[in-house]
Amino acid sequence: MSSEAVAGDPFPAAEKSPKRRWGLVLVGATGGAVLVLYAATAPFVAPALRRICLPFVPATPAQVESVLQLLSGRRGALVDIGSGDGRIVIAAAKQGFRAVGYELNPWLVWFSRYRAWQQGVHHYTRFYISDFWKVNFSEFSNVVVFGVPQMMVSLEKKLQNELKENASIVACRFPFPSWIALQESGKGIDAAWLYNAKSFKMTAKEKKS
Ligand SMILES: C[S@@+](CC[C@H](N)C(=O)[O-])C[C@H]1O[C@@H](n2cnc3c(N)ncnc32)[C@H](O)[C@@H]1O
Repeated sequence: MSSEAVAGDPFPAAEKSPKRRWGLVLVGATGGAVLVLYAATAPFVAPALRRICLPFVPATPAQVESVLQLLSGRRGALVDIGSGDGRIVIAAAKQGFRAVGYELNPWLVWFSRYRAWQQGVHHYTRFYISDFWKVNFSEFSNVVVFGVPQMMVSLEKKLQNELKENASIVACRFPFPSWIALQESGKGIDAAWLYNAKSFKMTAKEKKS
């Protein structure tokens, strides 16, 4: 076949060659793969690039156990601040809590919803794609957080302003800097601390008067 341009044909012959077509397919496929890879990984990298770096590190089974033990006997609404793959919310729902998770990463939220459905607790759980700094936690009487030391001062202030006196708070791995824990469970990376809003609300009132 001639490679000469045919009069009236808007596309030069070179553009129709199989080599060029394969080149285009390869460029398209590579671009598509890069986009898919970006969409899959960006939500995991993004939390680490924020002012306070809080990456996805799932709680260990011993940590989950500590949280449940510290909250045993309590009921009502529970929130996990930065709920990751939903393991704490799901475990809490199995213990009878109405449990909610706020999480930035949409993949983790979709996975959490799937796991809750798979484990038969989807009616008792809710997962939201949200920045927890923009959520008001006043409706929750049980709060769980597995954070990082850099965020605990700000979170302490936020919770102090928002929570009611009947709220209990559990911090995993890193304690709150000024509140005094009522109870501690687990050791090392599995450690968790229980706080009572009544005690820190009273201390705040005493400081004011
Ligand atoms: C240390 S992991 C804890 C996950 C889960 N709570 C657990 O114990 O298995 C912290 C989670 O917080 C999420 N995160 C970080 N910044 C956030 C923000 N501003 N709002 C909501 N979630 C956030 C991360 O994506 C990550 O999944």
